[in-house]
Amino acid sequence: MRLQVEMASGKVVRENENTELDKLLIQLLPEGGSVDDYLKWFNDPKVRSGLFPTTPTDAVNIESWLSSLVDNPKKFYQFIGVGDKIVGHIGLNDIDQRAASAEVGIVIGEKDFWGKGLGDRVFKMLMPIATNQLGLSTIYARIAGHNFRSINLVTKNGFRLDKTSGLSIPEKWKVYSCKFK
Ligand SMILES: CC(C)(COP(=O)(O)OP(=O)(O)OC[C@H]1O[C@@H](n2cnc3c(N)ncnc32)[C@H](O)[C@@H]1OP(=O)(O)O)[C@@H](O)C(=O)NCCC(=O)NCCS
Repeated sequence: MRLQVEMASGKVVRENENTELDKLLIQLLPEGGSVDDYLKWFNDPKVRSGLFPTTPTDAVNIESWLSSLVDNPKKFYQFIGVGDKIVGHIGLNDIDQRAASAEVGIVIGEKDFWGKGLGDRVFKMLMPIATNQLGLSTIYARIAGHNFRSINLVTKNGFRLDKTSGLSIPEKWKVYSCKFK
């Protein structure tokens, strides 16, 4: 997508542009992430620097984390399919039906896909599911202070710094949240 200003009205409009990503099918898929992919992604220092410190690093713990995503009422995870490749996931953790809240987590493990708007696209695919299908009204994100990509991603999607959430965070991390409706 490219932003353009219409000369007559000064209105900002979006124009379709055939970027590399536009040529590929982007899907949220309920399954597909492999232990081998996550071993690579969760141990990649650049990916890892944005991840919560408790994220598993070895095959046994990654396998049990992947199993914990299935049939779990507190989680809703979708793998990100680009063309015929799984490149990461976006999901909800700690779904609390009573409080109508959850925490969003996103990992694009394949760094070739960073900075191309993929995070934004899948974020915009997940949020309507979280609100309309799962009935959630507050979504949190815990983000490392240095993770500018992630901070930009959530703030341009309506999230704001939240100093009252009560969620536990490591030093120099921050909580962002968005209230829907
Ligand atoms: C965080 C992450 C999901 C962002 O995905 P992405 O596809 O690269 O993000 P986008 O391309 O949609 O860009 C989102 C915003 O980040 C910023 N951004 C993009 N590329 C950037 C770059 N090279 N440098 C700095 N900021 C950049 C931009 O502000 C962009 O918004 P814009 O397109 O309106 O300018 C991805 O980098 C990732 O998976 N990182 C590792 C795991 C992680 O940190 N997860 C988040 C945990 S809270």
